Amino acid sequence: MTKPTSIVIFGASGDLTTRKLIPGLYNLYCKKRLPNTFIIMGLSRGAWTDEQFRSEMKKGTKKFSSSTFLEEKWQDFQSHLFYTEGLFDDAQAFERLNGRLATLEASPANRLYYLSVAPRFFLMIVEQLAQQVMLSEQEGWRRVVVEKPFGHDLASARALNHDLHQHLSEHQIYRIDHYLAKETVQNILVFRFANTIYEPLWNRNYIDHVQITAVESVDVGHRAGYYDQAGVLKDMFQNHLMQLTALVAMEPPASFDADAVRNEKAKVLKSIQPMMPDTIGTHSVRAQYEGYLDAEGVADQSSTPTYAALQLHIDNWRWQGVPFYLRSGKALKTKATEIIVQFKRPPHMMFPIDNDVSIRSNYLALCIQPHEGIHLRFEAKVPDTDADMRPVDMEFHYDDEFEGLAIPEAYERLLSEAIEGDATLFTRSDGIEAAWTYIDTVLQGWASAYAPPMDSYTKGSWGPSSSDLLLTKNGRFWRHGCAEH
Ligand code: BG6
Repeated sequence: MTKPTSIVIFGASGDLTTRKLIPGLYNLYCKKRLPNTFIIMGLSRGAWTDEQFRSEMKKGTKKFSSSTFLEEKWQDFQSHLFYTEGLFDDAQAFERLNGRLATLEASPANRLYYLSVAPRFFLMIVEQLAQQVMLSEQEGWRRVVVEKPFGHDLASARALNHDLHQHLSEHQIYRIDHYLAKETVQNILVFRFANTIYEPLWNRNYIDHVQITAVESVDVGHRAGYYDQAGVLKDMFQNHLMQLTALVAMEPPASFDADAVRNEKAKVLKSIQPMMPDTIGTHSVRAQYEGYLDAEGVADQSSTPTYAALQLHIDNWRWQGVPFYLRSGKALKTKATEIIVQFKRPPHMMFPIDNDVSIRSNYLALCIQPHEGIHLRFEAKVPDTDADMRPVDMEFHYDDEFEGLAIPEAYERLLSEAIEGDATLFTRSDGIEAAWTYIDTVLQGWASAYAPPMDSYTKGSWGPSSSDLLLTKNGRFWRHGCAEH
């Protein structure tokens, strides 16, 4: 990474820039993971000078990266920060931006354009960049990082892909899904494919079902305006939960190359059975937390779900007949993301226990956050009894095992990968479209006469009882496999 590189952030006065992007870049700088020569240029509508931009970003970094902030380091880092005022539909602003970049770069440089803006500006900005010939790769690479949400249904995602491809090749587009940059999510690949002992069991012969939970205790808060348009399906399922599903269910890629990994992910997403009119009522649950309608920014009669649970099936050899249960919601009891791989029960029980119900099966809990680690549940004999047994956990915790190695913020990782040109942690156009293809069938089902009722749940609970029923009617139940021990 010796060639000079410019990082241009569109939407520089926004929350994401202050909370994640600049602190992430600052941390990369401290770890010497930025190119030797670089500039960071912010662009947004606010009338800031370079100095004002630096001072705002300093406040943010001090607050959101307090454990790594050092005044001396910041002073060095901030000399790389610049700011240009401009609106995204103003061609002159882009001309000014290009001029300023060229002056500061002084020699041919690479450029990373980060679109930290509302989706309606994605294409507008790319068109402006194209018009000013700022996307040509003659003098160095040009990459565009696109924030989420990428489309609001299959048709809009397809249209956006098509329009972006008029100006950019696929290899220049980096679509963000910050879940992919979480260490524990990346570890799913390592766990599955750098070990031999799990892969032989990772299929319909041994696995009864898989649960993927991503719940949050916060309510919609000040994001109600956005959220009421999106709802939990578009906000969490289409991207994060579908990506987690793909990582758990994919076939082993031949290499750790971005396209090899993304080929396998796309393949499995394309194998998800569409939700049908005869399954939407039994395989999906939707609900709103009590009080949601009173939040500022929420439409009077809003029918936007803040919670959903889905049962999905993957139509391939490995997963035939194995349900995947996914759930996510706001204003719930706790903040936790975990994946439970529930194994089948032993086929025959030789121990003298009362009834079959108490035969418990093994499960593996991949704890994504906040207690990062992995738990394996199995039965153990209780000492000093004939054959009493109880479930125990074999546990791995990042905190204990990698003491002193802080887990970096997802955005730090994403920025570093985009600068290095590794797209493994970013979604490809076909993957995004495959995820939307499935989610669209759920949305259509919910808009149809076959839709399940809109349930409600109390804030701080585990969600509606209908969500429990989704599993209990098949003799299963939601697990919390990652609680702190
Ligand atoms: C975002 C959603 O993509 O992910 C938010 O828009 C949600 O609504 C957030 O709160 C959750 O991310 P994390 O990393 O805190 O689990």
